[in-house]
Amino acid sequence: MRVNLQGRSLLRIGDFAPAEILHVLDLSERLKREKRAGAEDRRLEGRNIALIFEKSSTRTRCAFEVAAADQGAHTTNIDSSGTHLGAKESMRDTARVLGRLYDGIEYRGHAHRSVQELALHSGVPVWNGLTDEHHPTQALADLMTMREHGSGDLAGVRLAFLGDASNNTAASLVMAAATMGMDVRVAAPRACWPGPSNRAEAEAAAAAAGGRVSVDEGIADAVAGCDFVYTDVWVSLGEPEKIWAERIEQLRPYQVNRSVMAATGNPRTRFLHCLPAFHDLETAVGRDIHERFGLDAMEVTDEVFDSDASIVFDQAENRMHTIKALMIATLTGE
Ligand code: CP
Ligand code: NVA
Repeated sequence: MRVNLQGRSLLRIGDFAPAEILHVLDLSERLKREKRAGAEDRRLEGRNIALIFEKSSTRTRCAFEVAAADQGAHTTNIDSSGTHLGAKESMRDTARVLGRLYDGIEYRGHAHRSVQELALHSGVPVWNGLTDEHHPTQALADLMTMREHGSGDLAGVRLAFLGDASNNTAASLVMAAATMGMDVRVAAPRACWPGPSNRAEAEAAAAAAGGRVSVDEGIADAVAGCDFVYTDVWVSLGEPEKIWAERIEQLRPYQVNRSVMAATGNPRTRFLHCLPAFHDLETAVGRDIHERFGLDAMEVTDEVFDSDASIVFDQAENRMHTIKALMIATLTGE
């Protein structure tokens, strides 16, 4: 049956069936080829897109901006400082106003409930650009990148996630990979395991697709023979500053370094990270952590981040192609 996503929102990966995710990935690849060939059609001419960012962003913001511009759409950037959002106007009323003016709305913020309110009351497609709980547009780019660096078929592909698996990026990644029938291995301390409902949903998706999801504290079994190793920051946007000490204590053993890459036993294992990454002392936060805890790097060493195994900048570029495909698919039905 032909997939048609017109009018649909993407708040979490489970909103899309496996065939719908594959449809977006296929369209992303087509759009990437078109752009490279300088032969892109402007499918979103005359459309207006609202971009709400209550948390900071480089990739997601720029990906939406460039994707919209490439396709002829106009964007408006909105945050809580220059608008009534949150302070004088509820998300429900904001949604009803924006829905009258815009064809689609991107939202990045804290509570997942906010993006649900937007989708419920705006009447237009809403795309979750990251909430505390989910980061589905990241997961689309992750799948696209793994397809590009593998055979193209994700079924059975082995993915290890090390680090804070309780967060938004991991929740969407594990669900997306499970939905594609991948062999997903999470290695994390118990305090950072995926939430029970996210885990149950991913296990069910994996069972339906012939894949597998395992969650354990051990690193060796998780990374053995794997095709991809993925990690994310140890403290996420919006989490309290005071949590750093505890997370460093918990997650230091899960740093992706040369010995973790060697423990895969697979010289072709690739390294993934949603970015931004703390891999050196070139950031204010990195230097502060170095002074307080003596770490030169956190979730990934500079050596691995800058190695031939690292495909993080392909991943970053693919944010744009997948977001473009998502907007086109949900706005036009292509
Ligand atoms: N990966 C990601 O979402 O990056 P930004 O926070 O820069 O948007
Ligand atoms: N888990 C991270 C992802 C950043 C893209 C965060 O929420 O800060």
